[in-house]
Amino acid sequence: MNTILQIPSNGVILLEFSYLLAAIFFVVGLKFLSHPDSARKGNLWAAAGMLLAMFTTMFLHKDAETMEGIKSANLVIILVAIAVGSVVGAIIARKIKMTAMPQLVSFFNASGGAASALVALIEFSNPDNQSALVTLLGLVIGAIAFSGSMIAYGKLNGNIKDIFAKWMSYINLLFMFAVIAGVIFLMVTDAPVETQQIMVYILLAIALIYGVTFVMPIGGADMPVVISLLNSFTGIAAAMAGFIYQNQAMILGGIFVGAAGMILTLLMCKAMNRSLLNVIIGAFGGGGAASDREAGTVKEVSVTDAAVLLSYSSKVVIVPGYGLAVAQAQHVCNEMEKLLEENGVEVKYAIHPVAGRMPGHMNVLLAEADVPYDKLVEMDEINPDMPNTDVVVVIGANDVVNPAALDEPSSPIYGMPIIKAHEAKNIIVMKRGMGKGYAAIENFLFYDEKTRMLFGNAKDSLQKLVTEIKSL
Ligand code: TAP
Repeated sequence: MNTILQIPSNGVILLEFSYLLAAIFFVVGLKFLSHPDSARKGNLWAAAGMLLAMFTTMFLHKDAETMEGIKSANLVIILVAIAVGSVVGAIIARKIKMTAMPQLVSFFNASGGAASALVALIEFSNPDNQSALVTLLGLVIGAIAFSGSMIAYGKLNGNIKDIFAKWMSYINLLFMFAVIAGVIFLMVTDAPVETQQIMVYILLAIALIYGVTFVMPIGGADMPVVISLLNSFTGIAAAMAGFIYQNQAMILGGIFVGAAGMILTLLMCKAMNRSLLNVIIGAFGGGGAASDREAGTVKEVSVTDAAVLLSYSSKVVIVPGYGLAVAQAQHVCNEMEKLLEENGVEVKYAIHPVAGRMPGHMNVLLAEADVPYDKLVEMDEINPDMPNTDVVVVIGANDVVNPAALDEPSSPIYGMPIIKAHEAKNIIVMKRGMGKGYAAIENFLFYDEKTRMLFGNAKDSLQKLVTEIKSL
């Protein structure tokens, strides 16, 4: 039987109060998320706030016109959808490999964008909806976040390659203007409702295509910025959906995500020494001019020699990168660090803001191996100390130590701040071969006079080093 839920007389006050409480949970969650030690707690706080907001809305919300609660049949559908979504989400999150986290974030982002766009699409035809501009903005921003995030997902997964050509910037501008023109047209037109509905679908299609063409040419080292920007779009689209329903919890949640995503985007732009505009339309593809520099010869080091060099140093800096995450070598890396410290060596980790494949990737990875947080030193802080460092050990990092960023204006990563490993007295690089990094460019650090390569999977090489250091 499809009964209507009875809401207590003080339901509205209770609902408003629960939204206030949810907002406090979100803020506390965000605060905890700002430090790796407390990040898990932060997630739980924010999730608890969301759970509270969802359930109080379901059980206490009254329709503005009828002043009635939700129909029980609808409630059942919502609860079943939440249960299915939660189970699927939990399984995916449990099974996902650490290195595939950025793809997962992109996928979740896409889902958020799609949900907001669908809300806007349905509500546009609702005659009671008074907020046409907000609805249309929710529609286009949500659609761009959806298709853009799916392309980012495909690129990070390696299924979609960068397609870059100068003319794509013009196509992008064209689509952007078409989206803006579509929104303005639908705001001012007095065409029949049926025509307007067709126009909305056309606008949706243009926004979806724009999301694709917007992300398609962005490559090289710029993907993290774009992912964070799309995350911010999803938040803004959710806030728009919140405005449509006049739901404070949705507005607040969306604004928090939108603002946090935008702040992270700008921080990453700063870390890469690029303006946001330059990232978005700056013709920064995955290619870039080939270097005309002569590659020298690569010198290898044996495990024994590397172990001796490290054990008899006084200052060692480890530069972790994406390869450390791929090899899952964080625990054995921590073991080596402890052994060296027992021998009186000072060991620190140099953390580049975009090392790995997601913001904070190295911090999370090393925290997993219980590396104390005070051992992780930010790039700007550690760089001045590089000339006094006896050995820099680069483990599975490439782009973030590439000196081309400093001295090769034709390089796609020129201008991006790097960890100045090349300034240390000795450099040991651990990687499997001469494979390139994410930006797919040559790294002349590997040919440097002071560099010795220790080839092999990072976990195996570190394991051998640990055994060798123990036997010294
Ligand atoms: P990369 O430049 O991607 O280099 C990683 C290196 O690790 C490769 O050259 C590879 O060389 C080596 N490697 C791979 N598997 C290995 C294994 N099992 N054992 C040992 N070495 C292994 O990494 P990075 O220096 O961390 O730079 C990150 C790059 O990704 C930047 O360009 C950044 O902009 C981009 N990016 C970052 C993010 C965020 S937010 N962090 C998101 C997307 C993209 P071999 O094949 O020779 O072993």
